[in-house]
Amino acid sequence: MFDDLPRARLAFLPTPMHRLKNLGESIGIDQLWIKRDDQTGISFGGNKTRKLEFVVGDAKAKKCDTLVTVGGIQSNHCRQTAAVAAVSGMRCILLLGGEEPEEYTGNILLNRMLGAEMKFFPDESAFTLNKRLDGIMDTLTDFGLTPYAIPAGAAMPVGIVPYAAAMDELNNQFKVNDFFPDRIILAVGTGGTLAGLILGAHMLDLDIDIIGITVSKSADQVKEEVQTLIERTVQTYSEIESFTPKINVDDSFIGKGYGMLEDGVVSAIEMFAKMEGIFLDPVYTGKAGLALIRMALAGVIKSDSPTLFYHTGGEPTLFTYSELGQK
Ligand SMILES: Cc1ncc(COP(=O)(O)O)c(C=O)c1O
Repeated sequence: MFDDLPRARLAFLPTPMHRLKNLGESIGIDQLWIKRDDQTGISFGGNKTRKLEFVVGDAKAKKCDTLVTVGGIQSNHCRQTAAVAAVSGMRCILLLGGEEPEEYTGNILLNRMLGAEMKFFPDESAFTLNKRLDGIMDTLTDFGLTPYAIPAGAAMPVGIVPYAAAMDELNNQFKVNDFFPDRIILAVGTGGTLAGLILGAHMLDLDIDIIGITVSKSADQVKEEVQTLIERTVQTYSEIESFTPKINVDDSFIGKGYGMLEDGVVSAIEMFAKMEGIFLDPVYTGKAGLALIRMALAGVIKSDSPTLFYHTGGEPTLFTYSELGQK
């Protein structure tokens, strides 16, 4: 799918898809499986690596020499951008919303090791920086760079099609394993991953309920943004026909807000670790993991209903939550 688009082959694909037997037995789902995009390779992996393969392909085709993107201080997207820039021989400038910490931990520590240039904006957020990205690009051009702007989370058409292709990859794994899920559960930030999976399922004519667990924004806002991302992608690539997407987003697991650690999330992280040896992150996949467990225990997911949990990465932020280490 989308084989003729420029692409830098950077990820370890296909990522594994395997059964979660212990967790499935414990929460009462007979066929519970996981897709491991925490294993996309390069700098601890994560969902952005797939997107960035196409982004780097596009940037190189446009003869750009510098990748510029925005995020919060502990952005996984920024860390993966730093890594793909490093291996692709490109400069990387990261615009981070928030105060520069005294000590570098987690993703910013990795950004520094990867050689990215980080600029901290204490009075801004990823959201406000995202809006100013075009203006910042003009300044960088004036300095003689040929920059390529990547919005937060690479939520742009060239970052959506890789997840339609990921659905194609999954579909092959469904056939090989004779496992056809009724639903896929995943964490949602910008909605790009969700938009791509919905697009892919549509293109392959798959009847799967794809449930996005938003970690910060309201369900209505995410639905609107996902709708817009799909429309922009359809307009960009002539091979995709226009369609009316079914967008399923659940905002009941936001808790106290973005990045706020809560007992339920900690329990979900510990259940995945103790039963399957898999780490979730506190910001994204921990909330999606909690959603999966709660839905199963509440009987919303029936025991005979095959379910896929989509792991989107993010583990380096585990090391920034000192609360998790307290005795
Ligand atoms: C670990 C992890 N999971 C999920 C997401 C959300 O992905 P998207 O922005 O495509 O919705 C992110 C985004 O930064 C992430 O870092």
